[in-house]
Amino acid sequence: MWIFAYLNYRVPRTRKEIFETLVRGLQRLEYRGYDSAGIAVDGPNKTTSDINGNTICLIKKKGKVKALDEELYRKDTLDLDTQLCTHFGLAHTRWATHGEPSALNSHPHRSDKNNGKIPKHNFNIQFTKPLNTHITKGYEFESETDTEVIPKLIKYVYDNRENDRITFSTLVERVVQQLEGAFALVFKSRHFPGEAVSTRRGSPLLIGVRSEHELPTEEITVQYNSKGLNKKNSHNRPDCSNSIQSVEDGSAVEYYFASDASAIIEHTNKVLYLEDDDIAVVRQGKLSIHRLNWQAGEDPVRAIQTLQMELQQIMKGNFDAFMQKEIFEQPESVVNTMRGRICFDNNKVVLGGLKDHLKEIKRCRRLIMIGCGTSFHAAVATRQILEELTELPVMVELASDFLDRSTPVFRDDVCFFISQSGETADTLMALRYCKDHGALTVGITNTVGSSICRETDCGVHINAGPEIGVASTKAYTSQFVALIMFSLMMSEDKLSLQKRRLEIISAFKVLPDLIKKVLSLDEKIKSIANELYQQRSLLVMGRGFNYATCLEGALKIKEITYMHSEGILAGELKHGPLALIDKNMPVIMIIMRDGCYTKCHNALQQVTARSGRPIILCCQDDPEMSKNAYRTIELPQTVDCLQGILSVIPLQLLSFHLAVLRGYDVDCPRNLAKSVTVE
Ligand code: AGP
Repeated sequence: MWIFAYLNYRVPRTRKEIFETLVRGLQRLEYRGYDSAGIAVDGPNKTTSDINGNTICLIKKKGKVKALDEELYRKDTLDLDTQLCTHFGLAHTRWATHGEPSALNSHPHRSDKNNGKIPKHNFNIQFTKPLNTHITKGYEFESETDTEVIPKLIKYVYDNRENDRITFSTLVERVVQQLEGAFALVFKSRHFPGEAVSTRRGSPLLIGVRSEHELPTEEITVQYNSKGLNKKNSHNRPDCSNSIQSVEDGSAVEYYFASDASAIIEHTNKVLYLEDDDIAVVRQGKLSIHRLNWQAGEDPVRAIQTLQMELQQIMKGNFDAFMQKEIFEQPESVVNTMRGRICFDNNKVVLGGLKDHLKEIKRCRRLIMIGCGTSFHAAVATRQILEELTELPVMVELASDFLDRSTPVFRDDVCFFISQSGETADTLMALRYCKDHGALTVGITNTVGSSICRETDCGVHINAGPEIGVASTKAYTSQFVALIMFSLMMSEDKLSLQKRRLEIISAFKVLPDLIKKVLSLDEKIKSIANELYQQRSLLVMGRGFNYATCLEGALKIKEITYMHSEGILAGELKHGPLALIDKNMPVIMIIMRDGCYTKCHNALQQVTARSGRPIILCCQDDPEMSKNAYRTIELPQTVDCLQGILSVIPLQLLSFHLAVLRGYDVDCPRNLAKSVTVE
């Protein structure tokens, strides 16, 4: 359910160019996962009638954006060479939640279908919670989606308007007040040609601005609807007399609306992020932002930011898949996470986003690390060293379970929210829950401007660069690095921990080179994948610092190869999983030279005694392992708490090769989305 929309104001574009821009925008968002796509543009359309001289053409298709693209050119009613000086076009991908993947259920949705009634608006929306539908009775629905309630609702509001002077944004305001849950919406109407209205709550939405002229302002002042003003705070509200700011009056300008910056960056690096419940309106080329209520402490401006991201950062380059590219980027991405934060000359670690809160964090009762999927595994991977260096109790929590349990949280807790996207609904809900309980909240994210970034009290940006593959790889290793840097920062003044700190800091220095050595094992790992790809199941076993690698490796394998895979704590082997072992069950064991070596060796003996044929991830020059293994993957050794960064990479590579050999789309696994903004 990802949005891309493009408005050209006094910038002549042929319909073909507009199609190309919209399709390209959707392609940039493909990595987020979807199962159907659609667009809405001005123009004649067989399925709509024309009362005001404007029609909206809606084209939707199940499957890939490529299929939609082909469909666009099959529409012989659309003249591709027609120049549209001012035009607003919407595009959308959908990931089925309510209603199967189909063209009918695909977005955008419209307020009225061509059954004798006249379409009034077309909408492009994202919506996650069912709406109270009493208002939409009497309106005929075309799809099985809950989303479609919204266009029907705006039609109701329009049909019952008090007069014809009503603005498009007022209609949207009235609709949004009826909505619950998370959404990002972009509205287009044939009654307001060339106008765009967009809003969000909980789901990301940003607007890119491109103009030949320098933008007259670096920020847009939010305009408040005086009727909606919160009386309690109105004495304090920001001055809204000059509230509409815009690019130069009447001059040519283009606007791009998108769920994430990767769809915008090739057009402009000037963007602004909408806050929850902002209503952004483009009318006659001017962008303004409105809100119903002003609350004390609210930021009265939205800054136009300059994105640092480069287009090539989000391109595949010479790799076959984004996931593969991102695995191979890890020597650089971990450096980017450390850059400017670890000083190897004086062994100091400073995380700028946390330094002002350090005293408070040191005084806390416990640390709670919360995330989902891979981000949760980063918490599991670093828990032990966090406990050791902070000397605080550390809880690790899956966000969904944390909320299900209504876990007790206190004012003197510090809660970390780990999320690559910064938009994961479960993690975001857990964040709001912890805030409500008065805890200090810390974000560990990879996406500047994301909801988790904005809503936490402080945080660390992991700087891994855009991660496109649905299977998270470089974000995991960067989260890992960021959390360990946090533990180093916390322990700087503890004398008894200095030796340990220095050992870790020195290991960080050579980490990128060691990652390169692991990546050089790619061919060997590919040959192991060749032997395994027809298997149905794959167990991954280990303990201590490498247990998280087992969980993360198994997650990678199941999400992109669709094989069953399970990460098993080696200490639990005799409590059940041992029953699975025989000569036919593929088992990967992680046995590194660390505090758990002897215990892992015992587990290995239990496996080989049952005719198991383990593939062992071990340190270089460990004859004992070579003797017992069916295959070994020998890794360079580093300090115990960083070994998991090295041991996860062979499993990332293995899952990649297995998926390719099994013929699957590595970057867009079935049923999965890159960023899960629904609970
Ligand atoms: C990772 O490979 C997965 N695609 C998934 O588990 C992911 O890590 C999870 O959905 C959390 O996402 P986030 O880091 O963006 O919050």
